Amino acid sequence: MKKSLGAQTLVYPTPVFIIGSYDAAGKPNAMTASWCGICNSQPPSVAVSLRKATYSYDNLIARKAFTLNIPSEDQLKVADYFGLVSGKNTDKFAHSGWTTVRGEKADAPYLKECPLNLECRVLHVFDLGLHTQFVGEILDVKADESVMDRSGLLDIKKVKPIIFAPDTQGYYSLGSFLGRAFSTRELPKVEKG
Ligand SMILES: Cc1cc2nc3c(=O)[nH]c(=O)nc-3n(C[C@H](O)[C@H](O)[C@H](O)COP(=O)(O)O)c2cc1C
Repeated sequence: MKKSLGAQTLVYPTPVFIIGSYDAAGKPNAMTASWCGICNSQPPSVAVSLRKATYSYDNLIARKAFTLNIPSEDQLKVADYFGLVSGKNTDKFAHSGWTTVRGEKADAPYLKECPLNLECRVLHVFDLGLHTQFVGEILDVKADESVMDRSGLLDIKKVKPIIFAPDTQGYYSLGSFLGRAFSTRELPKVEKG
């Protein structure tokens, strides 16, 4: 039996990303965002949805660029803090001790402390209602060597991304390895009757 839960923003999992941006005067800011994901392969792009009320929204409009930073489990407290206070009236970096690095490819700062950083330039802006979706072309990905294996490939178990459950507002960690993608060409026969 299925029970209808009504219209709500409920999917599992949603990510915990931190959007880095400069304001018009060049002051860096960081905000946590979960309404985000990869949205195109060519050009490689991500979509992030920001409310107009955020300071970051104005920054993305002004600079047409942002970074998408992936925090690790042990950075949960800072990520949560970046999602509660606003750059409008708080210097989030002074309070967290976190540092920014000027992007090489995009006009936006990335967060040095996060193991993975994507530099993006805004390609499209869609006013969706409460949120405005920014589609950013990924110009470069930067990764800490500490989250790579010996052959230089990223290791998701070292990155330890955080998962957000929007309904209960809980944070979760990654589960265990389940299998390889694109490996199931045939399913075992199902007994009928
Ligand atoms: C886990 C989490 C996810 C969030 N996701 C979003 C989001 O996708 N879009 C959004 O507009 N705000 C989101 N927020 C709220 C913003 O991060 C928050 O309003 C923040 O203060 C905005 O910062 P700013 O004003 O400095 O830009 C989220 C907050 C948390 C804690």
